[in-house]
Amino acid sequence: MNRASLIIAALLAATAGCSRSAKEEPKMTREPFGKTAEGAPVDLFTLSNSRGLRVAITNYGGIIVSLFTPDREGRPGDIVLGFDRLEDYLKGHPYFGAIIGRYGNRIAGGRFVLDGVEYKLARNNGENHLHGGLVGFDKKVWRPRDWSDAEGEHLELRYTSPDGEEGYPGNLQVTVTYTLNEQNQLRIDYFASTDKPTVVNLTNHSYFNLAGEGDILGHVLRINADHFTPVDAGLIPTGELRPVKGTPFDFTEPVAIGARIEQDDEQLRFGRGYDHNFVLRGGGGSLAEAAEVYEPKTGRVLRVFTTEPGMQFYTGNFLDGSLKGKYGRIYARRTGFCLETQHFPDSPNKPQFPSTVLRPGQTYRSTTIFEFSAR
Ligand code: GLA
Repeated sequence: MNRASLIIAALLAATAGCSRSAKEEPKMTREPFGKTAEGAPVDLFTLSNSRGLRVAITNYGGIIVSLFTPDREGRPGDIVLGFDRLEDYLKGHPYFGAIIGRYGNRIAGGRFVLDGVEYKLARNNGENHLHGGLVGFDKKVWRPRDWSDAEGEHLELRYTSPDGEEGYPGNLQVTVTYTLNEQNQLRIDYFASTDKPTVVNLTNHSYFNLAGEGDILGHVLRINADHFTPVDAGLIPTGELRPVKGTPFDFTEPVAIGARIEQDDEQLRFGRGYDHNFVLRGGGGSLAEAAEVYEPKTGRVLRVFTTEPGMQFYTGNFLDGSLKGKYGRIYARRTGFCLETQHFPDSPNKPQFPSTVLRPGQTYRSTTIFEFSAR
């Protein structure tokens, strides 16, 4: 930046601050959300901005409990699946809104070899390891710290995963920070460090429904990916990077999620719909746009940016109507979709995939932005 543009940027920042305080000042709130089975109290934090965005997050699992965004008429609606009460989360659920770790997605056979040592993990998905195991980061009580500054409202969550937890080596110090800003972005910054070589792959498992209700088949999706990682019947990648061109996995141009989901395709059969990792064009490392979703009835738009090389697109195929969520809504099949930014599934056993190894002295960093608008 040259001097003139620095001055302009400073002036813009100052005006942004003024306009914010001139309007109704958003307030971060913190209220009790209940107690875990072990009696640990957890809270619900509400972050809001002056443009109508409001997100409630609990330090139990770092779960995004609700997320209100305006539709094209400015009407607010809650666009994530979840529950009103902690009790319902404690009863078990398919990772609604939660932070996933240590390893988001599957590790084949619940095992991997690192530096010649074999590590055995919890097998909680058939013979495979899924989303960190039996008690993953989605079920942990995180240490919260919240603050507001010129950028917006922040909720930082910390958790130390002890050496050997769910079979993983190393004491892992994890920090996840949620930031809501005036650009209608919810940013998630992930950091981790370890005292022994280990593997890490963190994500957030929010189920979105931009209409707030009904199925998500009419949502129009674009994904910046020319390849995806095809899977076997257990949803473990075969190792191939397959071109999306000419397949129901081609979302390079906007297309309704439901347009091809019932096609007779082996990959769709294995996933019972979409439940696949896309190889993002950006390749990871720096922040790049991964996807855009548009909901025609409400005009709501979600854009996803990430530093990750991959993204799991999951269409809620395993939701079966047995869970009743907020507003008494029944979560039937395909009433929510997930865009889980991540490294590729089973990377610890796939040397050709980008590495998920973290060594002492290194810092794991990952950023994902969910940006909301309407048109
Ligand atoms: C992930 C997986 C799915 C499913 C859901 C949770 O997205 O890829 O197969 O396990 O989580 O139900």
